[in-house]
Amino acid sequence: MGEKIHRIGVLTSGGDAPGMNAVIRAVVRTCAANNVRAVGVKNGYSGLIHSDVVEMDARSVNGLAARGGTVLYTARCHEFFQPEGVQRAAEACRYMGIDALVCIGGDGTFRGALELSRLGVPVIGVPATIDNDIGCSHYTIGFDTAANTAISAIDKLNDTMQSHQRTSVVEVMGRHAGHLAVYVGIAVGATAILIPEKEFDLDKDVIEKIRAGRYRNKTHHIVIVAEGVGHTQEIADKIEKETGIDTRVTIIGHIQRGGSPSGRDRVMATRMGHTAVERILAGGHDEVVVYRDSHICTIGIEEALTMKKSLDGYMYRVAQEISI
Ligand code: F6P
Repeated sequence: MGEKIHRIGVLTSGGDAPGMNAVIRAVVRTCAANNVRAVGVKNGYSGLIHSDVVEMDARSVNGLAARGGTVLYTARCHEFFQPEGVQRAAEACRYMGIDALVCIGGDGTFRGALELSRLGVPVIGVPATIDNDIGCSHYTIGFDTAANTAISAIDKLNDTMQSHQRTSVVEVMGRHAGHLAVYVGIAVGATAILIPEKEFDLDKDVIEKIRAGRYRNKTHHIVIVAEGVGHTQEIADKIEKETGIDTRVTIIGHIQRGGSPSGRDRVMATRMGHTAVERILAGGHDEVVVYRDSHICTIGIEEALTMKKSLDGYMYRVAQEISI
C-alpha cells in the first residue's frame, strides 16, 4: 500500500448498534473535508470479499446521525475468518483502490481487522456494541441508546406492575457481560440485578429482598436478569412460588438494538469516526479508537485485543446498597 491516501473504505460488522450510522457519516464527511474519497463496504467483511461497495460523498450521508441500525448492513462472515477469505478481502482492497479501512464493531470485528492488517491493509477500528464489553475502551457506541431504550420499557412495565402489585423479571441483553444490566438496574431502581460476573443466591439475594420489601409495603418489584445468566423463566417461576406474588417475565430483546441514537451516542460516534480518519491521514494504521478517562485516542489493535474489561465494582455496589 502506498503512503498517500486517496480512498478510505468503511464497514460495519457484528451486531448492529445505534450510532453506527453516525460513525459512517463522520468518516465520509471527514474524508470529504480532506479531499479523500470514501467508499462504503456492504455486509461487513463479506462485502469486501465480494467487492460489494458503494461510493459515498458528503451528501449521501445526510440525516444519518439520527438513524438507528447501519445503512451499510452488517454480518458475521465465517468465510472471512478462513485464511483464503482474508486473502481475498485484502486483494479486493488493492483491486478497488481502498488504501485504508475503518472497521466499526466489536472484538470480532477487530480480530478481522487485525488479520487484514497483517496482509498489509491499514485499518482503524471503532468500538460499537450495546454490550460495552470491549476491554480497550471505557465506552462503546450504542450502549447509551440501548440503556435508555431498556429503561423506558421498564418504566412502562413499572406502571402495570404497580397497578397489579406484581413482580417483573426483565431480561436485558449484554451477551456474556452485565454492564448493561447493572446500569439499567440502577436507573430503574431494581430490587435485584443478576449478572454473569457475580455469583448469587436466589433465595437470599432476591426472594428474601422481595419478602422484606412486601413487609415494608413495597407494592411491586423489578428484577433485572442479564441474558448471560440465562434461566430467566425458571428464576421468575421460583420467585412466584416462594413469594406468592404474581410474577411476569419480559425479555426486551432486539428492541434494545434499534432506535434513533441518543445525543451521547451521536456525539461519541461523530468524534470517533472523525478521529479514525484523522489518524489514517496522519499515517496511523492498525489501531482502535478508544474512549479512556474522558479522552478519545487510539491504541494498537493487537494490544487492544488483549485487554479485558471487568465489571465496575463501584457501580455494582451502588446498585446493591440503593436497592433496599
Ligand atoms: O452484541 C450485541 C448483542 O445484541 C448481544 O447483547 C446479544 O447477545 C447478541 O448481540 C445477539 O445477537 P444476534 O442479533 O445475532 O441474535
